[in-house]
Amino acid sequence: MSTHRIECTVNGEPHSMEVPARRLLSDFLRDDLHLTGTKRGCETGICGACSVLLDGEVVKSCLMLAVQVNGREITTIEGLAPGDGTLHPLQQSFMQCGGLQCGYCTPGFIMASCDLLKNNPRPSSQDVRHGLAGNLCRCTGYTQIVESVLQAAENMNHGN
Ligand code: FES
Ligand code: FES
Repeated sequence: MSTHRIECTVNGEPHSMEVPARRLLSDFLRDDLHLTGTKRGCETGICGACSVLLDGEVVKSCLMLAVQVNGREITTIEGLAPGDGTLHPLQQSFMQCGGLQCGYCTPGFIMASCDLLKNNPRPSSQDVRHGLAGNLCRCTGYTQIVESVLQAAENMNHGN
């Protein structure tokens, strides 16, 4: 089996690793780096549970190969909180607004919401629904997820 050395930054930490040519990015994150906050769901690009940020843009990590992130920067749910014991505003609002039940979809929704709020800091609920259309939740019915994102936007705009 052919392998390739990749060098990438994950949650601010540099990694240099030999990976099989066909290793999925989601498997690299979960199995090689033990960052299991990124979930494996459909593994066909439909559910969004595996969403991470690649150079600040949301991608579905089950649709990418680890070798494609050579030289690039990845943020997973583990790297989102500022590291001072507080949560990211999206993590806070999902908790406060009931944006999760089983939580399986939550890391993916939060990473996709990060990208959404970066590009549109004052979204309407329609914008949120549209922006998160690539993420599926089988528990919440979506209403609280949309509220969570709107609440986080509000808090971020007012510096909370
Ligand atoms: S696991 Fe990647 S989109 Fe479902
Ligand atoms: S909270 Fe269970 S799948 Fe979304």
